[in-house]
Amino acid sequence: MKRVLVTGASGFIGMHLCRRLQQQNVEVRAVLRRAINGPWHQAVLCDLTEQALPATAFDGVDTVFHLAGKAHAIREPGEDSEVYYRINVIATQHLLDAAMAAGVKRLVYFSSVKAMGDATTSVQDEHSPCAPTSPYGQSKLAAERLLLSHSRAIEVVILRPCMVYGETQKGNLPLMIRLIRKHLVPPLPDYANHRCMVHVDDMVEAALLAAEQPAAAAQVYIVNDGNSYSTRQIYDAICRGLGRQPPAWSLPKALLVLAAKTGDGLAALLGRRMRFDSQALQRLSCSAQYSAAKIRQELGFCPRYDLYRFLHTLLR
Ligand SMILES: NC(=O)c1ccc[n+]([C@@H]2O[C@H](COP(=O)([O-])OP(=O)(O)OC[C@H]3O[C@@H](n4cnc5c(N)ncnc54)[C@H](OP(=O)(O)O)[C@@H]3O)[C@@H](O)[C@H]2O)c1
Repeated sequence: MKRVLVTGASGFIGMHLCRRLQQQNVEVRAVLRRAINGPWHQAVLCDLTEQALPATAFDGVDTVFHLAGKAHAIREPGEDSEVYYRINVIATQHLLDAAMAAGVKRLVYFSSVKAMGDATTSVQDEHSPCAPTSPYGQSKLAAERLLLSHSRAIEVVILRPCMVYGETQKGNLPLMIRLIRKHLVPPLPDYANHRCMVHVDDMVEAALLAAEQPAAAAQVYIVNDGNSYSTRQIYDAICRGLGRQPPAWSLPKALLVLAAKTGDGLAALLGRRMRFDSQALQRLSCSAQYSAAKIRQELGFCPRYDLYRFLHTLLR
């Protein structure tokens, strides 16, 4: 890699990726919606859902990292499908057309394990059938299929990260930390569920391997840190990180079911989703477990972090 184009450069993962690329003396050209300073050499201003990138954006570019997207849930259900489709599918199509016309060698796409579905009953891998139910997951799968259908014309690598953790205020983990810090979350029951995650620095290493290794062309890779965590384990780890002893008791499951049903009822009455409802309870209690054996075996991916170590250093 000599010169790369990074969409979503201003985002949580994008910033880390650009910084790492610069450390490797790669020239970074960032696609941004508004001019801001960051770890890149040049910036191209473009809203990918509205405009096509100018051909000059690809001058000398051999690799594209495509991260621009809507990563976190939108609260209004009616809005979801169209918004996700525009950013994840239409924008990807525009980018793909321009990258192929410019003769870009490789495109690394940040999809998500949600392209496979939202909850799992067994450990899923890249051969597992995809049945996404959320508009986010459906749009990611559509973008993956679009890209892979052109893999004779451009080398495409699809990465499916599990939830990415790191120092950010966005997403469910930082929200959980903020609420537990303020004593706003009672000790959660142990559902013995399994959730997979990956540290942002490891995610960046996976992206570099995907960009550089010939064997990665036209492949799909799940990325995680090799562990699985139950909701209660995460709760306890946050307590320990905050210097508190995790409580020995936990909220009865039946009470959470009652609270979720109350949330559903209020939503029906008021016409808007409540913070806690059956969907939120499902997310808290279900498993979403994936194997990242393929990227370890084929690309030599070797994650350095786990959630416990990260929380310990973050909250210390
Ligand atoms: N974070 C996770 O846990 C996670 C897990 C699995 C997959 N992923 C995927 O990884 C990618 C990066 O995630 P992230 O957490 O870094 O997301 P993020 O912090 O929300 O950043 C999203 C980026 O996309 C850009 N963007 C959004 N709409 C755009 C548009 N119309 N045109 C141009 N740029 C646009 C944003 O630009 P602005 O700064 O202008 O808003 C921002 O740079 C996403 O595709 C996400 O789906 C993330």
